[in-house]
Amino acid sequence: MKTTFIAFFILVVFFFGCSREESQLTFSVGGAPNEVDYWETIIHEFEEAENVQVNFLRQPTDTDQRRQGLVIPLKAEEDDPDVFLMDVAWVGQFSTSGWLEPLDAFIRKDGFQIDAMFQPVIEQVDRSPNGIIALPVYLDCGILYYRKDLLEKYGFDIPETWNDLVKASEKIQGGERGNNPMFFGFVWQGAQYEGLMCNFLEYISSNGGSLGDLGKKDITIDRKENEEALTFMRDLIHTYKISPPNTFTEMKEEEVRHAFQSGNALFERNWPYAWKLHQSDASPVKDKVGIAILPAFAGCRSAAALGGWHIGISRFSDHKEEAWKLVSFIMSYDAQKKLALNLGWNPGRKDIYQDAEVINKKPEMDVLKSALAYAVARPNVPYYSLMSSILQRYIHAAISGEMAPGEALSGAQGDIQKTIDSYHE
Ligand code: GLC
Repeated sequence: MKTTFIAFFILVVFFFGCSREESQLTFSVGGAPNEVDYWETIIHEFEEAENVQVNFLRQPTDTDQRRQGLVIPLKAEEDDPDVFLMDVAWVGQFSTSGWLEPLDAFIRKDGFQIDAMFQPVIEQVDRSPNGIIALPVYLDCGILYYRKDLLEKYGFDIPETWNDLVKASEKIQGGERGNNPMFFGFVWQGAQYEGLMCNFLEYISSNGGSLGDLGKKDITIDRKENEEALTFMRDLIHTYKISPPNTFTEMKEEEVRHAFQSGNALFERNWPYAWKLHQSDASPVKDKVGIAILPAFAGCRSAAALGGWHIGISRFSDHKEEAWKLVSFIMSYDAQKKLALNLGWNPGRKDIYQDAEVINKKPEMDVLKSALAYAVARPNVPYYSLMSSILQRYIHAAISGEMAPGEALSGAQGDIQKTIDSYHE
């Protein structure tokens, strides 16, 4: 009797152990700590709804580190992670490397509502020669956060030009320093990482400049408009001194958000996710914050770097059916609405923008939509990350004061030209 019981027990453990193992899916996702926490909630809902176990891999906030964390297992053709989020900046490279499973068969079989997504985004980012290889979870764009109370107190309007921003910052920083020696006019992402590229793109584009066509041999990094913009970035820190000295050593999204949220800045450049956090109950700036499109140089048009995160399935996954279930769950109306309401994101599904509750609870949506109209995309070339790391190095040398802006841009242009030439050889 006892032996039969033990044998039965072993069988049960073996059976459940295996079936659990078989349906275990690995999902890799990072972001600001509150975003990763909320992903955990969504994942629990998915596990309950679909009866699939998910091994949740928490990644850091920094996009470059997130990319590195995925490149290693994908290069090694490991079967985990099965599903992951990718920055819009690296979807092209992942696709060209052959790491992404085409989703068309799943989309057809499931009757998945692909038309509910933003079609231009699908066409420009998620469609490869092998079909659709990713889907847009959310769209990001750079925006300006400002302290409503302080602009009012000192009689300034929301800045439309970069010069307006400098003027208001100088005056208000001078006034506020008496109470708060840590107070600065403007915080933005100047550390040497991908966020710096996004900021650089906004300054050059809002001065009529550009990087040129990095896909061809026609690159225009070393040009007057870009040099003026880069000089301005440096001057924010070293000449006007309205941006803190740690801008180029430490400032990434979360450092910038903390500086503004703790009441130490008048203006902040960040992505939409910061809004919900600024408005949270524990935030010292709750109800004192406004958002607007970023300023431009006189006579030019505002520009917002286009960011965002896309979901894909690894070609090496050994759980592709379950992986697709997770992807379609995350792209469903319900999950997309929750992500928009709880994290303040701009969903990749356009139908959420018509949802009455979302319109009601997300009054900032209007500004976000208008900022998207000024969006400037990073070059969609497979070797983008390589070019970005070259440019980051030179931009950083200029804003830290090590290199003159003109010299930095001609250095970057030379190195990038060499890289493109060797890529096309
Ligand atoms: C945000 C954007 C992403 C960008 C990154 C830079 O996460 O969504 O596209 O590359 O910031 O730090």
